[in-house]
Amino acid sequence: MEDSKTLEAELLAEIAAADSLDALEAVRVKALGKKGLVTARLRSLGAMTPDERRVMGPALNAMKSRLAAAIAERRAALENAELDARLVEERLDMTLPVAPREMGHIHPLTQVLDELSEIFADLDFAVAEGPHIEDDFHNFTALNIPAHHPARQMHDTFYLVPDETGERKLLRTHTSPVQIRTMLRQEPPIRIIAPGRTFRSDSDATHTPMFHQVEGLVVDRETHMGHLKGCLEAWLSAFFEVDRIRMRFRPSYFPFTEPSAEVDINCSRQDGRLVVGEGEDWLEVLGCGMVHPNVLRACNLDPEVYQGFAFGAGLDRLAMLKYGMTDLRPFFEADQRWLAHYGFDPLEVPTIAGGLSR
Ligand code: PHE
Repeated sequence: MEDSKTLEAELLAEIAAADSLDALEAVRVKALGKKGLVTARLRSLGAMTPDERRVMGPALNAMKSRLAAAIAERRAALENAELDARLVEERLDMTLPVAPREMGHIHPLTQVLDELSEIFADLDFAVAEGPHIEDDFHNFTALNIPAHHPARQMHDTFYLVPDETGERKLLRTHTSPVQIRTMLRQEPPIRIIAPGRTFRSDSDATHTPMFHQVEGLVVDRETHMGHLKGCLEAWLSAFFEVDRIRMRFRPSYFPFTEPSAEVDINCSRQDGRLVVGEGEDWLEVLGCGMVHPNVLRACNLDPEVYQGFAFGAGLDRLAMLKYGMTDLRPFFEADQRWLAHYGFDPLEVPTIAGGLSR
């Protein structure tokens, strides 16, 4: 009996002293394992006289439970301490600034797109999208470009192999098919911009087979050239960050608008440096016009009730003009050095109030 008390005291001391989960497990095995000291004593009960057993049995079992409880308690304490240590070690200070050299850059095109979305959201326009793989109807026919129309050749279209029905899909050559998709889907009044990828078989310093356009479309009951002009002036002044841009409308031709115009904005060219929004030179930036009645009809809109205006501009070209790139090809080369030079800070989101670019 006496000797069991000493054993228990010793084991309890070892449990209290165990400074890791491994050390604690070793004590557990030593005391309560198959060949443990307490287990051996419990086994020896069988060899005792009934009187001895009546005393020793409950005493040994109670000791076993006390030891097991002490081990469980110690284990919980050790596990807590381990978690606390990990929390300290793996602490991340979320308020620390990001190290600049580890920060990526926003591609100038993404920047320009964000700027445009912000400007047009302010003018109450929604952003619309359409598929890159288009059909003849949306890319040409509904836009008043019937089969054999010479404008089809001008587009250097990429065609896909015909499907089982013989239909030849194509990669959209402009964002204008989104005009059609929007008018077919939604009742006027319509105010959308549709930025996105476009494709033409063309390649040099200012043309790549894949490039980007932004389309604009407004359809309402009383829409006229004055609205178009005001909208373009608001947009281009905001985009080029000048008080009031000067514009020149040159008569032009697009099958899907009538009348049609190409728009130039004023700029200066000094020592090879181009500055938009000041000076007496002109720079072409977009095509536009009033939506052709045939286009409205193709979208089940009555031209006697509704009029609209539309415009289309090259997004890459807008980025080049605003941010001074002279070659379009590096836009799509994913060259880290080019991106580091022309890219934007991901934490500087363009806003009307805070400034578009800094
Ligand atoms: N889709 C024309 C182009 O790609 C641009 C445009 C759009 C012109 C809308 C007028 C109106 O050249």
